[in-house]
Amino acid sequence: MRIFLWLVFGLFVLKVVAASPRFSRQVDFDSYDYDERENNVEDNYEYGEPENEKPDRSDYNYPEPEVVAEEKEEEEEEESPLKPQAVPQGSGGSGVLMGPDTEKGLPVCLLCTCLGGSVYCDDLKLNRVPPLPKDTTHFYARYNRITKISKSDFANMNKLKKIDLTANKITSIEDRTFMGLPELEEVIIRENHISQLPALPETMTLIDASHNNIGSKGIHKEAFKDMTSLLYLYLTDNDVDYIPVPLPDSLRSLHLQRNNIQMMHEDTFCNLNDFNYIRNALEDIRLDGNPINLSKTPQAYICLPRIPIGNLI
Ligand SMILES: *[C@@H]1O[C@H](CO)[C@@H](O)[C@H](O)[C@H]1NC(C)=O
Repeated sequence: MRIFLWLVFGLFVLKVVAASPRFSRQVDFDSYDYDERENNVEDNYEYGEPENEKPDRSDYNYPEPEVVAEEKEEEEEEESPLKPQAVPQGSGGSGVLMGPDTEKGLPVCLLCTCLGGSVYCDDLKLNRVPPLPKDTTHFYARYNRITKISKSDFANMNKLKKIDLTANKITSIEDRTFMGLPELEEVIIRENHISQLPALPETMTLIDASHNNIGSKGIHKEAFKDMTSLLYLYLTDNDVDYIPVPLPDSLRSLHLQRNNIQMMHEDTFCNLNDFNYIRNALEDIRLDGNPINLSKTPQAYICLPRIPIGNLI
């Protein structure tokens, strides 16, 4: 019996001795380790890491969009001639679906994008106007390398309403190029090297020949007189040295800033023989950046809804 009790006691002591270090380790070291780790983690996130992360992010993120954009551009350049295109509405003739062939051997609607009556040929390094589907109403060839416009470029384009040749290298436009186009309303030839504004039909509503080299002899006499629907005439940044009168009553905006206009007559805009005459539409005249003193002709603005913008000194 005694021996049995000793054995039981011995077993109990053994159990306690064996269990106690594990227990204490768990409680003390494990929990301490854990707490410390947690604290470190918190420190890293709250103070250390965000600061370290920021420079990393900027280093990696800023160059990335550029690379992506470059890749995209290259892809687009390579793919653009083969992109599937919408079929131009009822384009007749030989190029039934894709329009007539260009000099590069591709139908125009594979080279450019044809949508309804609109033909978009922007930024394609074109040296000349491509042959267009007969039903083209709006033609865009911005940011190309076109140097010259010939009458044959738009011959018989009876539905053409708008031509936008912004930012090319055009130095000459054959004078009667646009005269045979019965529906033409908008011609945008800004940012080129034109010294002569070509003749334009009476159907015009918008003419933008800003940023060219149009000088004193560059505009036909009474060029805009019969354009009874003309709303916008933009000749900013040229070398024009007079206001191209007479201006149609329909005109809303006349932009002539940064030219070489030195003089204005009292009847440039108004009618001195008829003080009841009011030119209601013309509310936006820009003459700033010209060597003209608008204070010298106080009677010149009495028929206008607003005084022109320019030097009143
Ligand atoms: C502009 O014209 C007004 C009126 O004739 C004149 O008083 C003024 O001195 C002129 N200003 C300049 C800078 O020539």
